Amino acid sequence: MEKRRFALIGTGNRGTTMWGKDLLAGWREHVDLTAIVEKNPLRGERARNMIGSNAPLYANIDSMLAEQKPDLAIVCTPDQTHDDIIVRALESGIDVITEKPMTTSVEKIRRILDAEKRTGRRVDVSFNYRYAPTAARIKELLNAGEIGRVTSVDFHWYLNTKHGADYFRRWHAYTENSGSLFVHKATHHFDLLNWYLDSDPEAVTSFADLQNYGRKGPFRGPRCKLCPHAHECDYYFDIEKDPFLDQLYEDPSKIDGYFRDGCVFREDIDIPDTMVVSIRYRNNVHVSYSLNTFQPIEGHHLAFNGTKGRIEIRQYEAQPWEEPKEDTILLIRNFPNGRQAVERIVVPHFTGGHYGGDDRMRNMIFKPDMEDRLGQRAGTRAGAMSVLCGIAALTSSRTGKVVDIAELMPELANDGSPNSLRTPR
Ligand SMILES: NC(=O)c1ccc[n+]([C@@H]2O[C@H](COP(=O)([O-])OP(=O)(O)OC[C@H]3O[C@@H](n4cnc5c(N)ncnc54)[C@H](O)[C@@H]3O)[C@@H](O)[C@H]2O)c1
Repeated sequence: MEKRRFALIGTGNRGTTMWGKDLLAGWREHVDLTAIVEKNPLRGERARNMIGSNAPLYANIDSMLAEQKPDLAIVCTPDQTHDDIIVRALESGIDVITEKPMTTSVEKIRRILDAEKRTGRRVDVSFNYRYAPTAARIKELLNAGEIGRVTSVDFHWYLNTKHGADYFRRWHAYTENSGSLFVHKATHHFDLLNWYLDSDPEAVTSFADLQNYGRKGPFRGPRCKLCPHAHECDYYFDIEKDPFLDQLYEDPSKIDGYFRDGCVFREDIDIPDTMVVSIRYRNNVHVSYSLNTFQPIEGHHLAFNGTKGRIEIRQYEAQPWEEPKEDTILLIRNFPNGRQAVERIVVPHFTGGHYGGDDRMRNMIFKPDMEDRLGQRAGTRAGAMSVLCGIAALTSSRTGKVVDIAELMPELANDGSPNSLRTPR
């Protein structure tokens, strides 16, 4: 089996680890790193050392594509740049794996879908949470009809003050870069919902606000390293305590001014940090979703309510107390009829990023002959639909109106895919 020659585009944390060092460590028999493209030459150089590669470094994708002719581009740049890079790679005749979110606006979604169709190449979207063993088990239970017809979902995601704050230190904190966390972060969660429910979101309404970060902060400084409030700030982040981040971002910031420890209380931050959303699906499932970014816990609550019962999980990621090293899914029956009223389904806690999803996704994409029994491998339609859901939520939070996905992008909402066919209510 020939190895796939890939080019890594963007060597921040995600590119350097997940799609650089870790990919080569675990999947070397399937891939070869042919080239690295990184706008910041010092970060590119540092990343190349960390990855342990001697692949040539390029400052932009065009010169790399012209000289190297890889088979595959893996896109790990900031969200608003994905579309341009994806389209250039597709037009050069190669496949793409893009980090989530696929992109940040309706026009950019259109560009990507058009280019994929025009070139006949393939884009994979990195929805790793679909591969978490708990997610796979829940999908199996839903597919088996264990709780009858699903009627509603409760889905609440909690980011703690370490992880949540990180989005407010950097480019993610501006809607034009990330589409807000409705797109940047919730793309994972909306995709999970679309996949679990096997349907498209149809109408979205939302409330959102900036309650804690940005202008709501008590004081502010240029960046943590130079901040006069460092001694009194709950969000002070000492980059020198993390040698990996320090190497990858601190000296390179002298070239591009991209500080890894930006102040979370910058006045101009324009994304919400507290978000609630209601979604109606085409198959008439109603979803209640929320995302909060400054919790003492990290993890989520998820429950599917059906005509015959309920599936629920509290997935733990970090909390100031001990939890067992396994996850428990509860399958609770309305009418047991001789079966157990509640089944506790224990799923071992897998190591590796995103509840073990990162490793399983790389297996699916790179190992030959992998069976995709649960439809976990995600392409551009899934990438687009989850971004549209985020755009609809952001729009609703700003206008106070319910947003129809079909109004945002009629050609996708009515594209004839099984998910786009309305189920009569
Ligand atoms: N799937 C997941 O769970 C997951 C987890 C983390 C990050 N991500 C995604 O990965 C992507 C990267 O995240 P990150 O935290 O590493 O970001 P980052 O800001 O740390 O790194 C991005 C890098 O891209 C470089 N860059 C910017 N524009 C470029 C261009 N046009 N050409 C080449 N290089 C360019 C920057 O200089 C930087 O080094 C984001 O889209 C993010 O959403 C996904």
